[in-house]
Amino acid sequence: MRLAKRVEQLPPYLFVEIARKIAEKRAKGEEVISFGIGDPDIPTPAHVVERLRQAALKPANHRYPESDGLPEFRRAAAQWFQRRFGVTLDPDKEVVSLIGAKEGIGHAALCFIDPGDVALVPDPGYPVFGIGTMFAGGTSYLMPLREENGWLADLDAIPPEVARKAKVLWLNYPSNPTGAVATLDYYEKAVAFAKRYDLPLLHDAAYSEIAYDGFRPPSVLQVPGAKDVALEFHSLSKTFNMTGWRLGFAVGNPQLVNALFRVKSNLDSGVPQAIQEMGIEALNGSHLSLEETCRTYQRRRDKLVPALRRLGLRLESPRASLYLWARVPEGYTSAGFAAALLDQKNIVVTPGTGFGKQGEGYVRLSMTLSDENVDKALARLEGWKAPAPAR
Ligand SMILES: Cc1ncc(COP(=O)(O)O)c(C=O)c1O
Repeated sequence: MRLAKRVEQLPPYLFVEIARKIAEKRAKGEEVISFGIGDPDIPTPAHVVERLRQAALKPANHRYPESDGLPEFRRAAAQWFQRRFGVTLDPDKEVVSLIGAKEGIGHAALCFIDPGDVALVPDPGYPVFGIGTMFAGGTSYLMPLREENGWLADLDAIPPEVARKAKVLWLNYPSNPTGAVATLDYYEKAVAFAKRYDLPLLHDAAYSEIAYDGFRPPSVLQVPGAKDVALEFHSLSKTFNMTGWRLGFAVGNPQLVNALFRVKSNLDSGVPQAIQEMGIEALNGSHLSLEETCRTYQRRRDKLVPALRRLGLRLESPRASLYLWARVPEGYTSAGFAAALLDQKNIVVTPGTGFGKQGEGYVRLSMTLSDENVDKALARLEGWKAPAPAR
């Protein structure tokens, strides 16, 4: 039996490989501490889980949901957007619910990419942008993100003939994996670029609420006229520690929202309604737990950043996202350094190359592990000098 090329071309999903290594070590009785996956260790707020308990008892929620989401959920998303970003959205035309942002991002490629088309994709970046493009038969033009540009895609460096051919522009700030953030000025340039080349600007804002030191990441839709070209992906996963429930939404240009809805309605039957009720509770209810979540990550960040610098890693203290993005010591590759940490200290970090070629020389650490494990890892690393890299 032959599988489709799109399956054969798939690289091994990064975290599957890491999970396999961890399982091997744990089977040998070793205690592995993982900074690998960005999956919050903090539980979903109790009032949100309570809403699910009640919603589960309602027979109306036992039936197929609508593909575009409960009107009440779309309304809650629009109201939250208005409060948070000051942007007005029509909940019926400019909001669609998603089974997590990942689902929407993957399906978005099917809306905009035909075989042979080109997508502008950040490197390093969240792998689903490129994989979705490949599934739709397109190819990615990788926009190199560089430290000297604050990890912002340099849109002026994209050759005009590539930009003219491109069908979408993907951006993601606060960024996975770099933790970089974008300003409204930058989004203004991105919107102008998208308009110049008549491209949908697809912005992944999954980490918009995880930010530190009082910083509030902007939305691309705050740029006047952005709604002409932009579709923005939001997720309840990190904001409300809801990765396990699978809930997000996309907002913006009604034509783009409608295209995503039409693709989705042919492939999935929407988010279970009881889970959308959790979303309504999370968006409309108290956000004290979100503030506490950000304080927790900030505390971890402030412990980890100086400790990693003492080990010889070079890194910025991120203003947002769950991630530390660190330059490995001279002479190491990303994979070599990650392997040395795992072999010698039973500590997992993600090699930057898992996010694209430009991630070479960096590792990513997710701060989604308990404070106790952060402290344990720091104790293990105290005074550690990575061995000379293998030649
Ligand atoms: C940049 C980025 N976008 C989207 C997602 C997926 O979000 P969700 O859990 O809503 O599918 C992730 C998850 O790690 C991510 O890093």
